[in-house]
Amino acid sequence: MRVGLVIDCLDWHARELIAALSSRWVETVLVRLSYCGMATASPSGLMIEGFGTTLPDALVVRTMSGGSFEAVTLRLGILHALRELGVTVWNDARTIERCVDKSMTSFLLARAGIPTPATWTIESYEQAYATAERETAEGPLVLKPLFGSQGRGLRLIHTPEDLPKIEETPGRVYYLQRFVGVKRQDGYHDFRILVVQGRVIAAMRRHSPHWVTNIKRGGRPVAVVLNEEMKTLALKAATAVGANFVGVDMVYGTDDRPAVLEVNSMPAWSGLQKVNAVNIAAILADALIAALAARRFRGAMA
Ligand SMILES: Nc1ncnc2c1ncn2[C@@H]1O[C@H](COP(=O)(O)OP(=O)(O)OP(=O)(O)O)[C@@H](O)[C@H]1O
Ligand SMILES: [Mg+2]
Repeated sequence: MRVGLVIDCLDWHARELIAALSSRWVETVLVRLSYCGMATASPSGLMIEGFGTTLPDALVVRTMSGGSFEAVTLRLGILHALRELGVTVWNDARTIERCVDKSMTSFLLARAGIPTPATWTIESYEQAYATAERETAEGPLVLKPLFGSQGRGLRLIHTPEDLPKIEETPGRVYYLQRFVGVKRQDGYHDFRILVVQGRVIAAMRRHSPHWVTNIKRGGRPVAVVLNEEMKTLALKAATAVGANFVGVDMVYGTDDRPAVLEVNSMPAWSGLQKVNAVNIAAILADALIAALAARRFRGAMA
C-alpha cells in the first residue's frame, strides 16, 4: 500500500505519521502539491509527485501552503480530481475549502444547529461599520482574517471606529464574530478536540495570559477530561464540514454554555500529544488503513 503525504516541509508531524504507517507496512511518499498537476493525456489525467501517472491508494493532506489564487485553485482541483478518481483523500478538497474559509465553517455550523458565536462576513467597509455599530452595543466583536493563521491578526472591536479600513484588513474581507467571554482561571482558556473518523481521540485545554490561546501564540496545553456535551458537539462539527480528521476549537462562555469557534481541516497535534497518552499518529494510521480496507471490501461486494 502506498500513501501520499502532502507536506510543505518534513516536520515532526510528518515524521510521526511516516513512522506509524511504516510500522504498519505502509509506504509513505512525500508529495508537494506545487509539484503535481493535471495531465489530460496521462491515464489518470493527473501527475502526482512520487507516483508519476499512477495513483496513490490514499492521500493525507498534512499542510497546504498559500499561493496565488490560481495556484491554490489548481492544488484544490488536483485533490478534487483524486476524489473523483476514487482515491481516499484526508481531508478532501471540499472539507478543506469549508474549513479554510471561516465564513463557510460558521455558516455550516449554524445551519447544523451547533452553538457557535454569531458571525458576519462582509466586504464593504460601510456595511461592516454599520454591523459593528449595531452589534458592539451588545458587547465586543472579534475581527479575524477569513483565512486563519494560528491566532495571527485577530483583534477586538469595541466600537465601529476600531475597524480597520478595507486596505488594512487581511484579504479585504471583514469576518466579525461575537466575542465569547470565558470564566477566567489563571488567564484565558479554550479547548481543542481532535476527531478522527467520527471518534474523539484526544483533547486539551489551552491556557494563555492572552484571550488568543493558540499554542503558536504562547498558549499552554493542559490535559482535560471532556464532558459528553463537548464530545457530541465536536463530532457534530466534524460531520458538518464532512471531515475525516479535524481539530475543533471550543469555548465555554461565562453563561456556562459551549460554543464551537472553528474547525481545522489540517490540524497540528504536537501540543495535544504532550497531554494525551494515546499515540495520535498511530491512531490516524490505523483509522486510515481501516478506511481503505472498508472501501476495498465495499468495492469487492459491489
Ligand atoms: N469569538 C471568540 N470569542 C472568544 N475568543 C475567541 C473567539 N474567536 C477566537 N477566539 C480566541 O482566539 C483563538 C484563535 O481563533 P480561531 O481559532 O478562530 O482562529 P485561528 O486559530 O487563528 O485560525 P486557524 O486555526 O484557521 O489558523 C481561539 O482559539 C480563541 O482562544
Ligand atoms: Mg484555532
